[in-house]
Amino acid sequence: MSLLKSNSITSVPPVDDSGAVTTVKRGPVAVPSTEKIIWAIGGGKGGIGKTLLTSNLAVFLSWLHKKVIVVDMDLGGANLHTSLGINNPTQTLSDLLYNRVEDANDLIQPTSFKNLSLISGAHDPTGIANMPHVQKTKLGRKFRELDADFILLDLGAGTTHNTLDFFLMADKKIIVVTPEPTSIENAYRFIKAAFYRMLRASTPTPYVRQLIEQAMDQKNARGISTPKDLLKEVIRLSPSEGELLKSKMDSFRFSLIVNQVRTSAESKIGTSVQIVCERYFGMHVDYVGFIPYDNCVWQSIRKRVPFLIESPNSTAVTHLESVLRNLLKN
Ligand SMILES: Nc1ncnc2c1ncn2[C@@H]1O[C@H](COP(=O)(O)OP(=O)(O)OP(=O)(O)O)[C@@H](O)[C@H]1O
Ligand SMILES: [Mg+2]
Repeated sequence: MSLLKSNSITSVPPVDDSGAVTTVKRGPVAVPSTEKIIWAIGGGKGGIGKTLLTSNLAVFLSWLHKKVIVVDMDLGGANLHTSLGINNPTQTLSDLLYNRVEDANDLIQPTSFKNLSLISGAHDPTGIANMPHVQKTKLGRKFRELDADFILLDLGAGTTHNTLDFFLMADKKIIVVTPEPTSIENAYRFIKAAFYRMLRASTPTPYVRQLIEQAMDQKNARGISTPKDLLKEVIRLSPSEGELLKSKMDSFRFSLIVNQVRTSAESKIGTSVQIVCERYFGMHVDYVGFIPYDNCVWQSIRKRVPFLIESPNSTAVTHLESVLRNLLKN
């Protein structure tokens, strides 16, 4: 079935509303025209749907006539290729990282979807678990040189430096969370780690870096327990450094998707996370929507076909469209 007409989604399947979750608005999706954009999809916890959402958002974007490359940055557990129905990737990021391949374009593999290609994750995670910073910068530069409109990075679980740095490198930082307390806990841990790592990387001043490091330790002797405390302390020592730090803090924002929602109460978790982040970190969060828990989603994984293709009339797809529309808005 055709979901598309030119650059907008004009025909979306009717909502199969179970009553448990609310419906979403439908209409054309405006897509920015020429800019190359890197999106990173992370969230701290494993099994929450990062890979699934990366692959389905990528297929959706490719349907909107955008040239899309998905990159499997789950260096310890690459499986993005499987969710796109690809068996054994011939070349992976390992080949680039170990200089067996010079040009990242040589790693690109076609998928069965027009406009959508894949760069598979590393096959040898042990050697690149702690990638030197210079290597990460080089990789980021190579991603920007790729011939694509959108590059989507599927991140692994956890808060390793690799994962945080690729998250921070993206133009659009997307965090996936599920309503489970463990997922919410890990999401906050991920947000905090990414936020302080960004601040630390952006200041050249040793004593400010030191204060940021102390702030990351909850039991620090200075009693800095929130970013606001940190800012106060830096301003006390140097108002100009404080100004710089504040502008960095203000620049940090991310988009939030709640996945595997089963009740309308669970869909509100996005707003709660948004409020907590704004109050605690003073950061801006775009809550772009939720995806319901839907049997068609896990069933599609078994078939190794994106649920967008397998179940285009599902509620999950309707919500995915709304999420994509919001992601493209800002
Ligand atoms: N909305 C949903 N409805 C039903 N099942 C879902 C949904 N989202 C995710 N799942 C289930 O969760 C599983 C894990 O998803 P996925 O592999 O995308 O997680 P992940 O966050 O990438 O995990 P990892 O960190 O281990 O790579 C899927 O295989 C699917 O069975
Ligand atoms: Mg994954």
